[in-house]
Amino acid sequence: MAQNWTPTSWRQKPISQVPDFPDAAALAATEAQLATYPPLVFAGEARNLKKALANVSEGRGFLLQGGDCAESFAEHGADTIRDFFRAFLQMAVVLTFGAQQPVVKVGRIAGQFAKPRSSNVERQGDIELASYRGDIINGIDFTPESRIPNPERQIMAYRQSAATLNLLRAFAMGGYANLDNVHQWMLGFVKDSPQAERYRKLADRISETMDFMKAIGITPETNPSLRETDFFTSHEALLLGYEQALTRVDSTSGDWYATSGHMIWIGDRTRQPDHAHVEYCRGIKNPIGLKCGPSMTADGLIELINILNPANEAGRLTLICRFGHDKVAEHLPRLIRAVQREGKKVVWSCDPMHGNTITLNSYKTRPFERILSEVESFFQIHRAEGTHPGGIHIEMTGNDVTECTGGARALSGADLGDRYHTHCDPRLNADQALELAFLLAERMKGGRDEKRMLVNGWA
Ligand code: TRP
Ligand code: MN
Repeated sequence: MAQNWTPTSWRQKPISQVPDFPDAAALAATEAQLATYPPLVFAGEARNLKKALANVSEGRGFLLQGGDCAESFAEHGADTIRDFFRAFLQMAVVLTFGAQQPVVKVGRIAGQFAKPRSSNVERQGDIELASYRGDIINGIDFTPESRIPNPERQIMAYRQSAATLNLLRAFAMGGYANLDNVHQWMLGFVKDSPQAERYRKLADRISETMDFMKAIGITPETNPSLRETDFFTSHEALLLGYEQALTRVDSTSGDWYATSGHMIWIGDRTRQPDHAHVEYCRGIKNPIGLKCGPSMTADGLIELINILNPANEAGRLTLICRFGHDKVAEHLPRLIRAVQREGKKVVWSCDPMHGNTITLNSYKTRPFERILSEVESFFQIHRAEGTHPGGIHIEMTGNDVTECTGGARALSGADLGDRYHTHCDPRLNADQALELAFLLAERMKGGRDEKRMLVNGWA
């Protein structure tokens, strides 16, 4: 039987991907200080997200989760946040129309600072240093000093998260997310896209729908839900000392919540069922994500689901699948079948980024065609299995970076050097992210039109 859980019980378990803090006393002092700071999110919000995800798990919604691979201190600024949110909201509108379902909006933002690494060291020429583990732990500069884990960085990350979340809340509720605005930005994107012809059809139908709503008196002025949106935050719960310091009892329910973000996830490298990360996550009530890569077995998955969601509560668990465009057909069906057989309630989400990373001209990159191809396979497989393709999880930015190849502007390997800014993995730029949304919406809509024609007897 499961042992008693406390916010510190993870400390008795084996743990992977921990930084080597040289000064244990300084680390403890920082964690003690963080524990006195206000929570970043409120438990009631995490419950609202869980309800929205419960609908997704039952086939009545779509999850859009996206943001930086790793947030950085250097790129913290209003423009970066605004441009991200602007691209993200446009994706959300397009996907809402494509799915004809509510889109649950979750950023990889306001806390996405800690990175698991495949190697503890990084080599450049003759020099070997400790790997960069994210701005919450050490610095990206390739110098011995910068790579020393520094607890003070956790305070910086907390403050940056608070400021980011503050601006996002203002944008979401203060008028910036007004559907009319987002619609206009989207039309601007279509007009300038080399694929304008292709996207215009969908864009026109959205415009018509907006005009129709206006004609019958449903406007942002009369209807608050058109001027506001619910936006949630998420990150990988990797640095457990930080997470523990922000773990609080919710006074209304008496339950423990992670208050560092609304949703947190467990990485593919730290999901051992008897290890610390799973131990920490099982005890908090937030919605949880679990990354599933090619090494996830059906039995292993069911074991993890039993630990993380023993009550089989809908909305609690999102399985974020990241196999690779050429491996998804091999791995996803067996996991879906195991989950169906056991009657487990989950959200199925597709991370088409992490299984499709290649090196080109010594840059880590991801070809847009492979990203699209993995998502398409994900949809097809779910259709074949009779399950709901519940969402996507992407690494993206609102900026015009050159990190992933392909897309309508056909970025090539030679372009990667132009604006390659990521602190970790390559992200879709704003245009590529929006394109992905258009291409998915087209397909979702195609599937629905067919169904409607059958139902109405027009086919
Ligand atoms: N409140 C609705 C929603 O979040 C409609 C909406 C308002 C919206 N602004 C938006 C949808 C921006 C997407 C993007 O779904
Ligand atoms: Mn990444």
